[in-house]
Amino acid sequence: MAKQEDDFKKVISHAKEYGYVFQSSEIYDGLSAVYDYAQNGAELKKNIREYWWKAMVQLNENIIGIDAAILMHPTTWKASGHVDAFNDPLIDNKDSKKRYRADVLVEDYVAKIEGKIEKEVAKAAKRFGDSFDKKQFLATNQRVVEYQEKADTILKRLGRSLENEDLADVKSLIEELDIACPMSGSKNWTDVKQFNLMFGTKLGANAESAMDLYLRPETAQGIFVNFLNVQKTGRMKIPFGIAQTGKAFRNEIVARQFIFRMREFEQMEMQFFIRPGSQKEWYEKWKENRLKWHLSLGMGEDNYRFHDHEKLAHYADAATDIEFRFPFGFKELEGIHSRTDFDLSQHEKYSGKKLQYFDPELKENYVPYVVETSIGLDRMFLAIFSHSLQEEELENNTTRTVLRLPAVLAPTKAAVLPLVKKDGLPEVAHKIIDDLKWDFNVIYDEKDAIGRRYRRQDAAGTPFCITVDHQTLEDETVTIRHRDTMEQNRVAITDLRAIIAKEVDMKSWLQRMA
Ligand code: GAP
Repeated sequence: MAKQEDDFKKVISHAKEYGYVFQSSEIYDGLSAVYDYAQNGAELKKNIREYWWKAMVQLNENIIGIDAAILMHPTTWKASGHVDAFNDPLIDNKDSKKRYRADVLVEDYVAKIEGKIEKEVAKAAKRFGDSFDKKQFLATNQRVVEYQEKADTILKRLGRSLENEDLADVKSLIEELDIACPMSGSKNWTDVKQFNLMFGTKLGANAESAMDLYLRPETAQGIFVNFLNVQKTGRMKIPFGIAQTGKAFRNEIVARQFIFRMREFEQMEMQFFIRPGSQKEWYEKWKENRLKWHLSLGMGEDNYRFHDHEKLAHYADAATDIEFRFPFGFKELEGIHSRTDFDLSQHEKYSGKKLQYFDPELKENYVPYVVETSIGLDRMFLAIFSHSLQEEELENNTTRTVLRLPAVLAPTKAAVLPLVKKDGLPEVAHKIIDDLKWDFNVIYDEKDAIGRRYRRQDAAGTPFCITVDHQTLEDETVTIRHRDTMEQNRVAITDLRAIIAKEVDMKSWLQRMA
């Protein structure tokens, strides 16, 4: 646990030191769970957004993208169920006066059990070597089976109690599991209470006539209320999808873990409209498709898993999370939800407007069903950033810090470095930049010895360093150094564009999904 915490602290400080993420309003001591993206962070975020948008909108003939407003008519949130049901169960510790999400306390307890299972697996894998069969071990090892049963029983009970709004039982569960306040160790708990997560605001200058609004807690509703407009103007035939990216706001109680759980964050969501009855098939298809998107980034199959929901949200008939192995363990990265016709039917009811589709093949009108994919852009950022940050032992007994971002997403694709600040080398370096900048984000760096500059770019995640030296003046060649292998090759300046494009081209990365 201490190592996990230590690794995570390194992620946070690296994100600051290398211009990725800053605490919001830091000069005023910051605003809790609100963050700003700095020069490199903004680029990485933009690249992730583009990687998602291309995979969803550009590569699917039947998906189109929109950009709906953050502020919506307040009845939207009544219809969607958020006013009544978008709550977190809270519990206070009477001694420490700290407030927690009751379900998170229980889930953290279960995560510890899962940690024990992982330890047993690692031990056995070491013992049995190549002949180790993880699946069989998980199914037959007595201790592991018991751990798993315990974890499953706890999560089932938690899911049932939350679904039935049985908050007294959630408290009993916390007491039975002997869960203590992580701050004080005290087990002196209050009752569990519900707390609505939406941020309120007002429209209009006049106090009497001002309208109470909410900052949207999800982007999805902007798609539902536009369903018919988009379907008609785009002449879309079911099945089809509407995608969008944008800010969402939640007054999270347990705001922690850096950009994992924020109060202002960005979602990338896609609502796929289908015939009633076909939801199982599409749910499975989107599960598969979205996992392929993640795997295309090459961050290791073992770092992802599905977690099917026991407790379904008020709108879903099936739901799963794609979980990622964050520095603090496996946690939700993306949700895939079969939302039935809940949202459109509710908006029909509350608006009095028909939100139906005439199916020319079936020759009938119906309210479409929806399968949604919903991923947090900031959470994806954290997954990529934390996975990429590595301390590497080198042959000469030194270490280097390297940020092995997938090259396609790296904020800067190449740094151009004159070996010395004289003899006309800076001028040549700037000329190379002027040529490459039309295709890639490239930067110039002349400060410090060349070795230090390489290390700086490794830590910033730049896939290539291009060094201009005296030989360049004679034969128009440079050395190009690869971040991951540290290999250096002498190449013609005229070949640079093609060499870089080969590694960063979004098309070839996305084609890995096929
Ligand atoms: N429209 C469905 C929906 O909003 P959700 O599971 O509440 O579903 C979807 O959120 C995704 O949004 C999550 O998987 C997560 O990646 C991201 N997300 C949710 N709350 C977040 C928060 N407070 N901070 C950062 N990302 C968050």
